[in-house]
Amino acid sequence: MKKTASLAIATLIASVIGCASTTGPTPMRGADVTAPDRAPQVKQYAEKVPGVGQPQLIARTFVGQPPMVPHTVEKYVPLTIEENACMECHQTAEIRGQKIPQIGQSHFSKTAKTKAGKPALEMSRFQCDTCHVPQVDAKELVDSKFVGVTK
Ligand code: HEC
Ligand code: HEC
Repeated sequence: MKKTASLAIATLIASVIGCASTTGPTPMRGADVTAPDRAPQVKQYAEKVPGVGQPQLIARTFVGQPPMVPHTVEKYVPLTIEENACMECHQTAEIRGQKIPQIGQSHFSKTAKTKAGKPALEMSRFQCDTCHVPQVDAKELVDSKFVGVTK
């Protein structure tokens, strides 16, 4: 008698668990684990061309952070030793009335000079995109309460 009762309880528990798993949470990847991965959606860069529209810098979130690039870089990469398109704009604070965030003092060499006699770019800073990365207009997958510390 006792054996039959515990068997009945075990069956009940098993069926409850079984039901729960069919109505369980939907995975964020949107498909069953065994299904092949879908190609990620192609995302647009936040600002197509630098300096067009409202110039909006991305707020920094920690001290010493390399600022993130608020415009597309597709036309400017890869950087080569012959051509560094980033420097065509970022070596001055202004081009034909257009304000440009100029590279920081840290990016200039203390000894090397350009042909014009001005401080040259420090070569360890040449590959801009090792530190500065562009951002796409994408919604966060999960809510975040992250608050940066910049002081
Ligand atoms: C045609 C000129 C131009 C070129 C080329 C260019 N930028 Fe910019 N960049 C701008 C302007 C203008 C801004 C200010 C924001 C805006 O209007 O897009 C900016 C903003 C930035 C910022 C944000 C600075 C801050 O203080 O937040 C970074 C970092 C940056 N650019 C890096 C790069 C890198 C790396 C490249 C090369 C891959 C590059 N830029 C190429 C014009 C340019
Ligand atoms: C080794 C990493 C590194 C490389 C490479 C690098 N940067 Fe930076 N960059 C930083 C950091 C960190 C900061 C913020 C602190 C500072 O100004 O030094 C910064 C700041 C900047 C700023 C904002 C300056 C300001 O005064 O707010 C611009 C614009 C910029 N970099 C552009 C460039 C460009 C263009 C290149 C390529 C020629 C480049 N950076 C290469 C790390 C880097």
